[in-house]
Amino acid sequence: MTTLKFYGDESIPLEMHKVRIVQKLRLPPVEYRLEAMTAAGNNTFLLQNADVFMDMLTDSGVNAMSDQQVAAMMIADDSYAGSATYTRLEAKLREIFGMYFILPTHQGRACENILAQVLVSPGTVVPMNYHFTTTKAHITLNGGRIEELVADEGLEVISVHPFKGNMDIGKLRAVIEDNGPTQVAFVRMEAGTNLIGGQPFSLQNLADVSQVCREHGILLVMDASLLADNLYFIKEREEDCKDLSIREITRQMADLCDVIYFSARKLGCVRGGAMCMRSEELYRKMRGLVPLFEGFLTYGGMSVREIEALTVGLEETMDMDMINQGPIFIAYMVEELEKRGIPVITPAGGLGCHLNALQFLDHLPQSEYPAGALASALYIASGVRGMERGTLSEQREPDGTEVFANMELLRLALPRRVFTLSQIKYAIDRIQWLWDNRRLVGGLRFIEEPEILRFFFGLLEPTTDWQQQLVAKFRQDFGDSL
Ligand code: F0G
Repeated sequence: MTTLKFYGDESIPLEMHKVRIVQKLRLPPVEYRLEAMTAAGNNTFLLQNADVFMDMLTDSGVNAMSDQQVAAMMIADDSYAGSATYTRLEAKLREIFGMYFILPTHQGRACENILAQVLVSPGTVVPMNYHFTTTKAHITLNGGRIEELVADEGLEVISVHPFKGNMDIGKLRAVIEDNGPTQVAFVRMEAGTNLIGGQPFSLQNLADVSQVCREHGILLVMDASLLADNLYFIKEREEDCKDLSIREITRQMADLCDVIYFSARKLGCVRGGAMCMRSEELYRKMRGLVPLFEGFLTYGGMSVREIEALTVGLEETMDMDMINQGPIFIAYMVEELEKRGIPVITPAGGLGCHLNALQFLDHLPQSEYPAGALASALYIASGVRGMERGTLSEQREPDGTEVFANMELLRLALPRRVFTLSQIKYAIDRIQWLWDNRRLVGGLRFIEEPEILRFFFGLLEPTTDWQQQLVAKFRQDFGDSL
């Protein structure tokens, strides 16, 4: 928090909102948690939410909405075509991003489907700072391939670099030269780079990427799903942007891009998605696919209530008091874990706190999925549900070879405005217990492995009886506590 200082020694994150609607939580006992984890095939995606105490799986579609957003849902204009609700969203997107042509979709990956179908063809390449799972899947499905050009420091787990999501401009030039500009389908910059720990890029880096794209007539596409976090970090960490408003920074970013798309499950705190662009020609090419895959052009698969709330949510994103809540809570959690010597990605990014499973479970080989094992162990130890972001989230090569991820992370997402500080402290406490007992945690192996996006439905089992041992140790240390 930049504007608020504490008198005493302890500086804590402070919310600039109050909670007016609550949802009851249940924390089942550890033995039950082991049963639930086993039934879910050690895959946190397959747990029932009713069995989860703190759902840190994702921030997607589960951010708290504001009173203004909920109120706006009541004025939504229900119509298949020409809804006034959609006109309001279109106007807000034009105002914020300064791009005229807008297409609505039901969520972020639907934008990726349309982009890839229109722009990617066999043999083309899409350079990007780093991939996201669904993005990569759509590009490869259309015969293209990706090149990850994140600057080297982006893959350093422990760092003080303020912008680990930056693209390496030299590598970008080399990829364009090697492939020829016509084979580059587009260049993609992902704000708040998800899979490397929610790390931002700088406005300067985006400007440099944009310059190279314009020199070669290549489209620059920004994935703005995690834009809110990236905006916060640019404002906080980029010297030249200190005096700019969030709205001005947003506009400067948009001016450097040709297309912006986003998952409104993250940006805007609702459930939906949209694409914004400058070129009418491109818009016309993409437009035809919206009624085919999404819905008519004035709702794109979203409910009008969500659209109305999105318009308000986008406006609220222009407020530092709103967009700082996630990053300051994440920074608190990361710093508290760091103090205890627990390996986390630094500096703290957006989206969530990321445990470094390679170091946490350094006795496990990557072939036994350390990040997946840590996700399973943490749920058993605490009822906290995280998400594996490591080798399980990769796809095998066509010949079946395992692709070992650059990083083995357990992502503990902090949906915006959802958790209290005491809940975060509980999670820290249980993570510390697990750290102190980490040698008990063993590996996982597949019992059922889907071919595409295997992390969603894959079923795994422990390689030994380590989970029973973990539960026994829990009982020994915690008595009859939950
Ligand atoms: N791009 C990024 C950077 C994302 O983080 C996501 C989703 C998408 C695209 C796809 O959007 O889910 O609306 O289809 N990330 C979620 C997550 C799933 O949990 O990190 P979607």
